[in-house]
Amino acid sequence: MPNELSFAMLKPGIVQRRLVGEILARIEKKGLDIVALKLMEIDKNLARTHYIEHEGKDFYNGLVDYITSGPVVAMVVSGDDAVSLLRKLCGATKVEEALPGTIRGDYADHTRNNVIHASDGVESAKREIGLFFSPSELIAWKDGNDEWI
Ligand SMILES: Nc1ncnc2c1ncn2[C@@H]1O[C@H](COP(=O)(O)OP(=O)(O)OP(=O)(O)O)[C@@H](O)[C@H]1O
Ligand SMILES: [Mg+2]
Repeated sequence: MPNELSFAMLKPGIVQRRLVGEILARIEKKGLDIVALKLMEIDKNLARTHYIEHEGKDFYNGLVDYITSGPVVAMVVSGDDAVSLLRKLCGATKVEEALPGTIRGDYADHTRNNVIHASDGVESAKREIGLFFSPSELIAWKDGNDEWI
């Protein structure tokens, strides 16, 4: 399994519903390493660039308005197959298809506000990490507990 980096963003509703800790706990418990993390307000420019692949779709402007409506939590995670693992934790895009036990299945009630973004491939992860973080903000670490087991 390749070691990969992926990018995730907790959308404004997660911050406003005080669910940041719960969602981070799910990501940590699955074994992914959080190697960068920050609360940030993103401007329309960054939001539009981030979701550029959806430009022109009927939900695009609403999506941009939503993710700029309040602070988001941006992060980079690292781990074996991190991209697909994180997508599995998130669940399906459409909330009616997101299974219970997934983040969207448990916390999202509208597809447009589906609570979390996760990169859909290694290349998009690279692009998105570059949009939200400078290289010096990524901090790789080794699990110190490994030494004691
Ligand atoms: N049919 C739709 N109606 C409304 N909003 C949608 C629709 N499809 C996607 N979205 C919104 O646009 C975002 C980006 O859609 P995309 O197809 O990239 O799904 P995704 O990769 O599962 O989600 P994300 O990119 O946010 O991780 C979704 O997270 C969702 O909020
Ligand atoms: Mg996507």
